[in-house]
Amino acid sequence: MSDFRCLSRSGAIASLLLLLSSTPIFAAFPRPTNSQNGMVTSAHPLATEAGVEILKRGGNAIDAAVATTLAISVVEPFSAGIGGGGFLLTKMGKDIKSLDFRERAPLTASRNMYLDAQGKVRPNASLEGHLAAGVPGTIAGLAAAHKQYGKLPWRTVVAPAIKLAREGFNVSEIYTEQAKSKQKLLASNPAAREIFTRNGQPLQPGDRLIQRDLARTLIAVARNPQNFYTGSIASAIDRDMRQHKGLITLADLKSYQPKWREPVCGKFRQYNVCSMAPPSSGGVHLLQILNTIGSTDLATLGWHSPDALHLLIESMRIAYADRSEYLGDPDFNRIPVSALTNPAYGNKRRQEINLDRARPSTTVQPAKPELLKQFDRSPVGVSERGTQPPTVTQPATPRAESLETSHLTIVDRDRNVVSLTFTVNYRFGAGVVVPGTGILLNDEMDDFAIAPGVPNVFGLVGGEKNSIAPGKTPLSSMTPTIVTENGRFRLAIGAPGGSTIITTVLQILLNVLEYKMDVGAAVAAGRIHHQWLPDRVNVDPWGFDPATLAELRRRGHQIEARSYWGNANAIGQLPDGRLEGAADQRGEGTARGL
Ligand code: GLY
Repeated sequence: MSDFRCLSRSGAIASLLLLLSSTPIFAAFPRPTNSQNGMVTSAHPLATEAGVEILKRGGNAIDAAVATTLAISVVEPFSAGIGGGGFLLTKMGKDIKSLDFRERAPLTASRNMYLDAQGKVRPNASLEGHLAAGVPGTIAGLAAAHKQYGKLPWRTVVAPAIKLAREGFNVSEIYTEQAKSKQKLLASNPAAREIFTRNGQPLQPGDRLIQRDLARTLIAVARNPQNFYTGSIASAIDRDMRQHKGLITLADLKSYQPKWREPVCGKFRQYNVCSMAPPSSGGVHLLQILNTIGSTDLATLGWHSPDALHLLIESMRIAYADRSEYLGDPDFNRIPVSALTNPAYGNKRRQEINLDRARPSTTVQPAKPELLKQFDRSPVGVSERGTQPPTVTQPATPRAESLETSHLTIVDRDRNVVSLTFTVNYRFGAGVVVPGTGILLNDEMDDFAIAPGVPNVFGLVGGEKNSIAPGKTPLSSMTPTIVTENGRFRLAIGAPGGSTIITTVLQILLNVLEYKMDVGAAVAAGRIHHQWLPDRVNVDPWGFDPATLAELRRRGHQIEARSYWGNANAIGQLPDGRLEGAADQRGEGTARGL
């Protein structure tokens, strides 16, 4: 039975138990894993094991994160890998730092590269094939984090992934399900077909996936991470691109640099919430939504009550409207982070919300630049240059998305923390494996606004600030998050799920901090999502009682069941110092302590 069907059944049971027993209300959810000495959670048991082994050998959270990230790259090729990029948030000692190792647009990329001569979007051009790929950053990012903070030798932390690639592993139902959905794409690229299919058919659960080329690439990377960006690996990427009208060149690879950026941080109750700054929209809108909730006592309104859900939905609607207008690469634009994350701005937008009635998204607009200017706390004013709200030129219909992108959370004995989300974007990325390297390339270029108002694969629209330019970073929703209380680590969370990442992290955070749930229940609980456009509320079909949904409908919300949600994971620290961790039962991940 697939994990998804398992989930529906366990979800239905959970809902039933919730209805039947009110004390303790969250008893039906899975229990978290507890440990005193360190913990790893990731989307795959073998990747979690790789991280735990490194912690056992005396590695710190960064060492374990490198091992776990590279292991995910081997065992979850459909979600994330060394052909993609991501974001790392870390607390090493007192400071919280963030590293952007997201893909960049190739130096010859151009604004209209996915449009035809008539200015129409060429279907799938930003999603499939060589032209869809951005310059990969995973190896450079991991090497930079390790150079700064790692304790064990680099080759030691790369070793578990080499072993997994060389010796192989048995694929799961989830792998097969993902591969099946991309069967045609994988079969159309000779190297991808060779590695990820048997004569064009997806591997079946239990089949062994051995990746010899990837093992050789990882061995070269273990010698020197720069080998990815220069030398024979880079030449192979350059050659393959030239042969297939792709854009990534040796010059792109050689000039790739990860960037340490200031995380965005804000107060929620007594907690300090830090998350990823632009070029991810995740942190800004997580804080914006928390600020819009403001002092409303959600616990008094009741967990999953219509009043609490209505406020969350309306706050999400406003945040995603602002996202469409103001978010993009901060190295190319002035992004009004300070205003958007200002609690007073959240409070101001809150006043628009009618607590009894849903507002149609057509009546909710991104803030006017003059309004944001009033809330800008930074020395430089918000850019005066406002753009028009995007006009949606085609129906914003996100594809049913599932487990692409991957998150891992790690806490070591000294309470150093890593919250890392990375991706090849849509499942199996561009569907292109560079011959002889085993590197599956991303399709991250789709996260740009490929034309004003044209939604990406997740239904998100964007504007001028997220238009394509050479060397620019596409806007992300990845939201690796770390919460502290009086400087002490309290909670780290992250999730995959495209546009739903931000709202997933938000709800897990609220479940733990506001509703006092343990992290097992917090991660497992049913979720809602609204992203302004399309104007509808996605709900976990089993997660809400019918009366609640009926009341939301009465208030004017368009409710739509969504069966696939990102497999989040989280680690929290209890007052007695114990860690509790949970990997989402929506996927196959595990939390393991030591
Ligand atoms: N590719 C999904 C994201 O970065 O949000």
